[in-house]
Amino acid sequence: MTWILSTITLDEVRVNLGQCRRCELCETRTTVVFGVGNPHAQVMFIGEAPGKQEDLGAEPFIGAAGKYLNSLLGIAGLTREEIYIANVLKCRPPNNRDPLPAEIEICSPFLRDQVRAVNPLILVTLGRFATQFILKTDVGISNLRGRVHMTGRFSVLPIYHPAATLYDPSKGPVMEKDFELLGALITKRRKEFGVTGA
Ligand code: URA
Repeated sequence: MTWILSTITLDEVRVNLGQCRRCELCETRTTVVFGVGNPHAQVMFIGEAPGKQEDLGAEPFIGAAGKYLNSLLGIAGLTREEIYIANVLKCRPPNNRDPLPAEIEICSPFLRDQVRAVNPLILVTLGRFATQFILKTDVGISNLRGRVHMTGRFSVLPIYHPAATLYDPSKGPVMEKDFELLGALITKRRKEFGVTGA
């Protein structure tokens, strides 16, 4: 299999997003939180929306959920530097409420372009909103996680949102198992595409 070259760059996507005022979240956010990491990552993580720390720091997953996520990466043989992370929404919903369908519709073209620009081998969707958006499904995360799905040319591994595990530590062993699966998936996809690690 060959790895198709992307047609848009992350810099171009960032310019297109600008200081976005396309929905009401611009009234309450501090910063637009675009995405961070290796622009040519083989593994791209997709979260829901910035929380308080991310809104202040302009970077996805730098709060408690991010620290937990960082602690799991090693299980899959990954470092934070070699992955790319973005959210479905680029602005924090007030009080971390759930994203509204209209907000997802308005904001998601930027995520789609980020996926095209990074062009990873694997998408890891964190929690319900990212998973349902990427897989275009209403099925709940519990029924999707821990299995590899395909969307277009991308392998998708849905996992619980790290914040859900902070609320419910009994999900911890499941998260660790899913990161072991991610490690095996990375090895398999690298072999298929004849590529090595980042
Ligand atoms: N939760 C998310 O979904 N994204 C972040 O960036 C932080 C917390």
